[in-house]
Amino acid sequence: MTLTEKPLLKVQNLKVHFYTLRGVVHALERVAFSLNRQETLGLAGETGCGKSVTARSILRLIDPPGRIISGNIAFEGQNLLALDEAAMRNIRGSKISMIMQEPKMSLNPVIRVGEQIAETLIIHDHSLNRKSAKKQAIDMLAQLGIADPTRIVRRYPHELSGGMCQRVMIAMMLVTRPQLLIADEPTSALDVTIQAQILELIQKLIRDIKTSVLMITHDLGVMAETCDRVAIMYAGDMVEMGSVRSVLKDPQHPYTQGLLQTVPDKSNPDQPLFSIKGNVPSLLEPQANCRFAPRCEYVMDRCRHELPPLYKLNGDHQAACFLHDGRGIIENVEIEN
Ligand SMILES: Nc1ncnc2c1ncn2[C@@H]1O[C@H](COP(=O)(O)OP(=O)(O)OP(=O)(O)O)[C@@H](O)[C@H]1O
Ligand code: SF4
Ligand SMILES: [Mg+2]
Repeated sequence: MTLTEKPLLKVQNLKVHFYTLRGVVHALERVAFSLNRQETLGLAGETGCGKSVTARSILRLIDPPGRIISGNIAFEGQNLLALDEAAMRNIRGSKISMIMQEPKMSLNPVIRVGEQIAETLIIHDHSLNRKSAKKQAIDMLAQLGIADPTRIVRRYPHELSGGMCQRVMIAMMLVTRPQLLIADEPTSALDVTIQAQILELIQKLIRDIKTSVLMITHDLGVMAETCDRVAIMYAGDMVEMGSVRSVLKDPQHPYTQGLLQTVPDKSNPDQPLFSIKGNVPSLLEPQANCRFAPRCEYVMDRCRHELPPLYKLNGDHQAACFLHDGRGIIENVEIEN
């Protein structure tokens, strides 16, 4: 990216709450990150830390009892949170697409898969006739390594395996050549051998169509292989960000350090698995301190009373931890909607 080029996506101070019978779940507190053109940014963190809510917020798919409280989501310089629903519908599926974790849930069970891919294309380009849309659907499935795409397009989702459905879903999401692809755990429902194949296909396609990707994954190994930069989330907050090399090789937040230790050592399969002690805290209280403090071996008194800002480290590496106090602070701009 040149110095004058703006990021494709810039999220600032995103705050999302869910109003439940148990109380207000402060699911996202001050999520901020940017994604450059043709870049793959990985989003990682333990279960419940807010990865999917972040993804759904970008597409404005937070349903009641959830609400986006504040923040700014600039896509090509336009704040998505300020658009009306019709403008947002035009962006979903054409400029920004999302591959969900459960493909069968996202496909329509009563429509043949070829029709579903063709429909996506026609919604995106009204001038396209059904015959050429179907041809493009078949071409796309062939690119995804499907041996007999003319037969597969006539099938219903329940007639296909999980891996095949995921390929159909990927075809549907990429056939319109979106500028941004959000892949929320795109392979975790599949078995390991198919996972690797699907990831390879996604990577090839995004290179071909020059798409930027927000890749959500539990698997730091996948992240190391597929991403340019990574962002680590903990309990609704971004705690560390930077190039894949600097964050995964030289983590600067105690949570990231713990998360990396949980990755099994393939060269030593008998070694007992490490887990970070304690649990992710309840999100029913607003964030007023470091949420990692009860689990952190470096905890200091101030960590229990103050919220650590994001400190600037080397290059674009940033970490929200008082161990880096004295470094420059990344400014937080609060934007209410
Ligand atoms: N509909 C909802 N109602 C109440 N709370 C919700 C709802 N959806 C999400 N949350 C809460 O928001 C927080 C973030 O959830 P999210 O699904 O983003 O986690 P995640 O990081 O994607 O986890 P996983 O790795 O398991 O997919 C969680 O505490 C979750 O309980
Ligand atoms: S701010 Fe304190 S508790 Fe939080 S990660 Fe850093 S040292 Fe640990
Ligand atoms: Mg999720």
